Amino acid sequence: MATVLTEPKTSAQAQVKQTKILINNEWVDSVSGRTFDTVNPATGEVIAKVAEADAADVDLAVKAARKAFHSKSPWRKMSASERGKLISRLADLIEKNADELATLEALDNGKPRHIARTADLPLVAACYRYYAGWADKIQGKTIPIAGDYFCYTRHEPVGVVGQIIPWNFPLLMQAWKLGPALACGNTVVLKVAEQTPLTALRVGELIVEAGFPEGVVNILPGYGPTAGAAIALHMDVDKIAFTGSTEVGHLIMQAAAETNLKRVTLELGGKSPNIVFADSDLEEAVEGSHFALFFNQGQCCCAGSRAFVEDKIYDEFVARSTERAKRRTVGDPFDTKTEQGPQVDNDQFNKVLSYVEAGKREGAKLMCGGERIGDKGYFVAPTVFADVKDNMKIAQEEIFGPVMSIMKFSDMDELVERANNTMYGLAAAVWTRDIGKAHYIANNVRAGTVWINCFDVFDAAAPFGGFKQSGIGRELGEYGLQQYSEIKTVTVKL
Ligand code: NAI
Ligand code: MG
Repeated sequence: MATVLTEPKTSAQAQVKQTKILINNEWVDSVSGRTFDTVNPATGEVIAKVAEADAADVDLAVKAARKAFHSKSPWRKMSASERGKLISRLADLIEKNADELATLEALDNGKPRHIARTADLPLVAACYRYYAGWADKIQGKTIPIAGDYFCYTRHEPVGVVGQIIPWNFPLLMQAWKLGPALACGNTVVLKVAEQTPLTALRVGELIVEAGFPEGVVNILPGYGPTAGAAIALHMDVDKIAFTGSTEVGHLIMQAAAETNLKRVTLELGGKSPNIVFADSDLEEAVEGSHFALFFNQGQCCCAGSRAFVEDKIYDEFVARSTERAKRRTVGDPFDTKTEQGPQVDNDQFNKVLSYVEAGKREGAKLMCGGERIGDKGYFVAPTVFADVKDNMKIAQEEIFGPVMSIMKFSDMDELVERANNTMYGLAAAVWTRDIGKAHYIANNVRAGTVWINCFDVFDAAAPFGGFKQSGIGRELGEYGLQQYSEIKTVTVKL
């Protein structure tokens, strides 16, 4: 049975340096004066009180961002390479403060501190550095149109960009949003998740330290239905980029439709198929599938949450995956032996356990886990369900927790139909030694990302995003830039 290693500590509290709202390069309280608690999910204790932004603060932030976007502002007059230099300086500052940021991320989110330090932080710095390099390479084309004309395109920033991010990778989601927006020359109003505001605010201090002009980046901690909705509904926000639940994704798009048709990009939920063929390297497939589901406490939009396993190896795969889940170390995020920390908050904890109940009720076979660990914090035992059927709730809905669902398949064409049979289309993986099968799956599965004999391989240069209700648009890579510029066609009579 997975065990709690050591008592979670709260000793890192001294690390909290910033809890206010960033508008115009100044740290301010909310207009209402209200604050909210941010909680350490390993203990349930309050870490700090944070300024609670709502519509009034959003309005001030949008005004600051609009002013910073004026054609004569320092930001707009700055050369593209100078803009790149600022983003690059931010990457340097993040690396310099990586130990502190990793500690704060673990404290506020519950993810193991050593994983934040070795996975999240390097990806964050790499993302800013990647987009710093793009800043002076964003260029249009000259187009040979008919007649005596000179025609060219300009790639201009969209304007004031609203961005709303979730709590599962707070620093990384901030980087995915700010990196391309700033490289293209936009100004930003960013709302961070109410569960995990602390690291984004610390990065706000580094943004000021790097020398970004006032109003270019404004950061607001606050709740979704108030601050988040105010951004989505604001008439002077030109584009909104959102990462979170599909349910809220619908609301964002509705808000854009009802107001000013602001551009919308969405990164939403997933129910990614993880397909294991009998000819795969079984040890690698078991470990890879374990990682695909359990990484980050199972709180990944692309988690491989539907394991389809070929009948010939099904029993052995179930046995080995159960044994691996039982060995997973759960406990104090500050212990370097910890593989899994707590779920992010009480709501997510209850949601995950309610899916476990649904799985049992609908007749899936509970192989291990399924219950709380300890009596404080939001720890859930690594859980494996076998004999899961496609129509069960746990096979259809996003659980966003450490709950693995294993299903059996025998026929490849039927498998593709089943893999595609959800409203989602974010990611997929296939484990096989047969290159033909691997590509057959890659070509036929409806998903924005396909991993072959690997999982969760991310790079700032490779685009990521969803088919179907997993989202609209792509983040990262060159494709990510296209979502942050408007194309202008200029035609000159010669
Ligand atoms: P959520 O979609 O409610 O929250 C994500 C962000 O949107 C947060 O910053 C939140 O404050 C904001 N938000 C919430 N309601 C809003 C509204 N009406 N208008 C504007 N912004 C709003 O997700 P939540 O409640 O934290 O988690 C619920 C489920 O969503 C999870 O169990 C998981 O299944 C999924 N989720 C998916 C994520 C992903 O990476 N795609 C990340 C977080 C959650
Ligand atoms: Mg919500």
